Order: sequence, then structure tokens, then C-alpha cells
Amino acid sequence: MKDKVVVVGAGFVGSTSAYAIMNWGLASEIVLIDIDKDRAEGEAMDLNHGASFVKPVRIRSGDYEECKDARIVIISAGANQKPGETRLDLVKKNTEIFKEIIPRILKYTREAIILVVTNPVDVLTYVTWKISGLPRNQVLGSGTVLDTSRFRYLLSEHCRVNPKNIHAYIIGEHGDHEVAAWSLTNVAGVNFDDYCLVCGKDCCTKEFRKDIYNKVKNAAYDIIERKDATYYAVGLAVARIVESIFRDESSILTVSSVLQGEYNLDGLALSLPSIVGEKGIKKVLTLEFSAKEEEDLYESARILKDVIKDLDI
Ligand code: LAC
Repeated sequence: MKDKVVVVGAGFVGSTSAYAIMNWGLASEIVLIDIDKDRAEGEAMDLNHGASFVKPVRIRSGDYEECKDARIVIISAGANQKPGETRLDLVKKNTEIFKEIIPRILKYTREAIILVVTNPVDVLTYVTWKISGLPRNQVLGSGTVLDTSRFRYLLSEHCRVNPKNIHAYIIGEHGDHEVAAWSLTNVAGVNFDDYCLVCGKDCCTKEFRKDIYNKVKNAAYDIIERKDATYYAVGLAVARIVESIFRDESSILTVSSVLQGEYNLDGLALSLPSIVGEKGIKKVLTLEFSAKEEEDLYESARILKDVIKDLDI
């Protein structure tokens, strides 16, 4: 099967994800689908004009039948947050859009991996799994991959080390109830509590950690207030997930997926460190968090289950 990606929703996030995938040379074909056909066509034209700068890739706009031989179908269609709006505020509107989109994708493929990006991404990952009836490994969401990157960036700025050398995870909901797994955070293989002594910059205080956490959790609001939307970092997060799938990397990413007993949870999708490869989710890791982190994770799960129970799916 060729490395073909279909992107449903050619708005800022969808087209930026396509741009990142193109830039990294990950796909041989990228097809953009949008209810606004001109938008999809215009984005494809704009991307194609950069073709001479990147590895060969065929980019076009199209319709749902393009899903039949796609390896990955990315869903970024739907309303996005307006200033002051939470991601969960979007759930009813975007669930109705998904009830329309999912059957149109499934009409042409039951083999493609579905990668949900639309918010609230954890809830919509669950909605996609429920409506599609696909096995859970085949349905994943961008989850807190973006938040984890924000977390690592902020820690790297503080400790003055490359973000790639910082292992840190944001788990739970991609949203206001996300959880910073400080207990798993390490730099150069040294737990962050101990690394503080090496770094010598007072990273262990409650105030420091609360400040970092709030900066991560509120990042989207802070950006939307300034430029009305976020799309570059989430587009890169999408490309990173696509890369781990296409290259069967078995990378550990905090993607969102439907839990089937992990942490004694089921009936929802949650963002947790998971092994991602060519068939999607290989394994949701069950890791030891601190008591407080576990408590916050279950609170995050409770809130999401509360939202799911009110959905008509
Ligand atoms: C953000 C959007 C993608 O966090 O939810 O920027």
C-alpha cells in the first residue's frame, strides 16, 4: 500500500499538517478534502508550488473515494476554539460533523488508520471508534502529543538543554484537565527532582512547576488571543504521529486512544504514553504515576466520561 494520506478538513490545522507531512517527505500522496472545495483546491495548489523544494509527493484536492487506498485518514474538520471557548464547548457541534464524516470515510476503507485532530480530540477519538466500529488500534487522536511538546520546550528553555533530551509527558485530556507527569520527567536519564541539583536553577519548587503547568495548559488560549488560532505546532505533532506509523517506529507518543482496561478504565479515549507503529496503537503503556498524578488522571477521565454519556452516538 502506498504512503497515501487523506486529510479531511483543509482549514489551518489540516493544511498545516499536510505541509508538515510534505516537508518531512513522509507521504507519496496527500489528498485534501473539504466541504469548501475551492479551499481544498487552493491549498493543494499552494502546496504543489513548493514541490521542487521537497521529496516527490503528489498533492491534490478530492472527495471521499480517495480514502479507499489511503494508509492514514486525518480528520481535522470541524469548528475550532474562538477566544474564551474551551475545547469541550465544541463537542456537540463537532460530534454532529463527525456523524456525517465517519460513514463517508468507512464507505471506502476499513483498513486506513484514522487520526483524529479535531477538538475535543479525546472525546472525538472515542466518537470515531464508536461510530466506525474499527478495532481500537486503528483509531487514534493527536491527544496530548502537542502538550507534551510544549512541556518539553518550556523545560528545555529553563534547563538550557535540547528538548529532545527531556523526557516528559502530559497525559489525560488534551484540555483544561490535562496532567503533567512530573514523576516520569527525566533529563539525561536523571529524574527531574535530581536533575534540578545539576541544573541548579531551582526547578523543584511548587511555584515553578505550577507556572510551567499553567503555561502548557493555557498555551492555546494565549495563542488564540493573539492570532485567533493555533496550527504550526499541532501540524508538526500530526506529522510526528504519521512518521511513527509510516516508518513503524514503535515510538512512544501521548496519543489519544480508547482504553480497554488500562488503569482500570474503559468507555473513553484518553491521552497516554503509547507505542505507535504501522498498525496504529501497538500498546498503551501502563506506567506508575505519583498518587496525585493518578488522582488527577482519574478526574480527567471522569470529566470526559461525563461528556461522552450525554452524546447521541
Ligand atoms: C492547541 C489546539 C490544537 O492546543 O487544541 O493548540
